Amino acid sequence: MQVNIYETAIEAAAAAASLMAKRLCRSPSMVLGLATGGTMEAVYEHLIRHLKAGLSLRCATTFNLDEYVGLASTHPASYRATMQRLLFEHTDINLDRTHLPDGMALNPEQEAARYEAAIADAGGIDLQLLGLGRNGHIAFNEPGTPFDTQTHAVTLDRSTRAANARFFPAGESVPDRAITMGIATILAAQEILWVVTGSEKQTAFSQALLGKVDPQCPASVLQMHPHVIICADRAAAGSVLSSGSVDRKRNFKLRVPKTPKS
Ligand code: GLP
Repeated sequence: MQVNIYETAIEAAAAAASLMAKRLCRSPSMVLGLATGGTMEAVYEHLIRHLKAGLSLRCATTFNLDEYVGLASTHPASYRATMQRLLFEHTDINLDRTHLPDGMALNPEQEAARYEAAIADAGGIDLQLLGLGRNGHIAFNEPGTPFDTQTHAVTLDRSTRAANARFFPAGESVPDRAITMGIATILAAQEILWVVTGSEKQTAFSQALLGKVDPQCPASVLQMHPHVIICADRAAAGSVLSSGSVDRKRNFKLRVPKTPKS
């Protein structure tokens, strides 16, 4: 694991976007796994800067991690609409090659199986962008999800729905179900770019990095992946940095910015 800590969330997002741009330059027709959540807004903002400077998404294929069950793509809080607004409409991407689970599918389990097969048909994911839920979830894999799950339909934790309520129009409730890539689907990506920012992620982040690999903290499974690059800010990394447990034993390469001179 390469753990890169930045002074601010903006710097962490900019570094993540630069890494994506680098990979896209090298392999323009790559399969990119995309994520949603507040953390990603700054990442996409910076990626768009690279696109304006000449980077192209024309040949890329994308698969998002998840989508709410029961939200049409026209609903502003659906992840399809979110991706459209934050990234797709600012790029030259071919929308036919942008994929999200269909939240309106009559049979969500069947839709999940179709989505998993579509990822496999595309040759698997080259680079997966990933965030972190406050309770340690990745995509919508809540605590307790077995590590061998493929794309599936889930019931969301109350805390996850509460955390995501800020993306919904006032008075509207967050759906209680979603379709999400499974933990096995995520782990099958060649490389994972994990962006974690904000002090509210500190507990989950340190548990995921330094705790035991345990389905109760789904993100802890990332310790098992051979190619994870982390872009985190100091606020999220606080206890990771102070614990002194980031050592060679865990195969971590830690890069921390120098403390600014006062
Ligand atoms: C949602 C998404 C996750 C994301 C999480 C954290 O639950 N399904 O993929 O990691 O939110 O989002 P935020 O960056 O808003 O904290």
